[in-house]
Amino acid sequence: MRRCDGLGCISEEKGRLTRTFASPAMREANALVRSWMCEAGLSVREDAAFNLIGRRVSKRRGAKTVMLGSHLDTVRNAGKYDGPLGVLLGVAVAARLRDVALPFHLEVVGFSDEEGVRYQTTYLGSRAMLGLLTKKDLQTIEEKGIEKARRPHRDLLAYLEAHIEQGPVLEAKNQPLAVVTAIAGQTRISAEFAGRAGHAGTTPMKLRRDALCGAAELILVAEKIGVIATVGQCEVTPGASNVIPGLVSLTLDVRDADDARRRAACAKLKHTALRIAKRRGLRLHDWQIVQETPSIRMDPAMTQTLRRAAGRGAPALPSGAGHDAAVMAHACPAAMLFIRCKGGVSHHPGESVAVDDVRAAIDALTRAVLSLAKQHE
Ligand code: GLV
Ligand code: MN
Ligand code: MN
Repeated sequence: MRRCDGLGCISEEKGRLTRTFASPAMREANALVRSWMCEAGLSVREDAAFNLIGRRVSKRRGAKTVMLGSHLDTVRNAGKYDGPLGVLLGVAVAARLRDVALPFHLEVVGFSDEEGVRYQTTYLGSRAMLGLLTKKDLQTIEEKGIEKARRPHRDLLAYLEAHIEQGPVLEAKNQPLAVVTAIAGQTRISAEFAGRAGHAGTTPMKLRRDALCGAAELILVAEKIGVIATVGQCEVTPGASNVIPGLVSLTLDVRDADDARRRAACAKLKHTALRIAKRRGLRLHDWQIVQETPSIRMDPAMTQTLRRAAGRGAPALPSGAGHDAAVMAHACPAAMLFIRCKGGVSHHPGESVAVDDVRAAIDALTRAVLSLAKQHE
């Protein structure tokens, strides 16, 4: 917890926590976490995609690797626990098991980009590690050579991620921990409404082509589209109180556990945006699907192992939030542990977790690793 407080002070913005991919703040955070990984007996390296990887090697010949991880980047004005808590829990487990011989190598990973704040494309770190970056990613990203982070992953035996729940269910159920059944698919879209800027005092209402009014209509349709949908960014140009908005760029984040329902909602939103633009004399520019991730089921056997480790009462919950486990599941059996957070608050500086719940999570994760060790003796 104290370590989360320490990391929570490393930010690229004054007065609030924001740590985006490859920023100087991320470099500083990686240096601090590196020191804790070393203390836990891990050998540490940073790969070409700024993922921080602590590893201890098993003496077993032909040993595979069990990976514990989460992310060290944050959203803007973030809380202290979304991501870093999972990384530091991994470090705590490694420290606890320091003197226990394991039949697999143990890695703790701090991924560099789960939130996708800097480039709007999520999971840059874990996708780079698995060689899943697209050409478009590589064109967009200023940092060159991140594809060199690709590592062979046939040796991966399991990926386990602990994360705050980011929702209110555990609190309502009075339970500290849950296991995750599946991670919802998500689509991120960017679009622009172009209208005509003009004088806010002299242009009659009927003669306006106000781009923001068009965007506002779309936002209200998205609110009722029937899946989880959010317009989180909206930039108004020229952006003056006495000028009619001539251009609005916005982002849409659309999610659902059912991929077909999510895609249908996205198609309907695009159709609606075109209709709104036509009716209002606007142009819809640049409707772009920036990223699309399908819904991913967690591995049933690994989840069962985690559930036994978390205790009988631990419920199984779906995740509406994205996690690096959604990517790592392409390479090996992946499972996730959720930790109760106060009021379900997340992506907000008010994120809070209880010390006892964190202790329970370390115990559960340690038991899960030991149970895997037993299974692979
Ligand atoms: C990550 O936190 C996301 O789900 O957007
Ligand atoms: Mn997040
Ligand atoms: Mn997260």
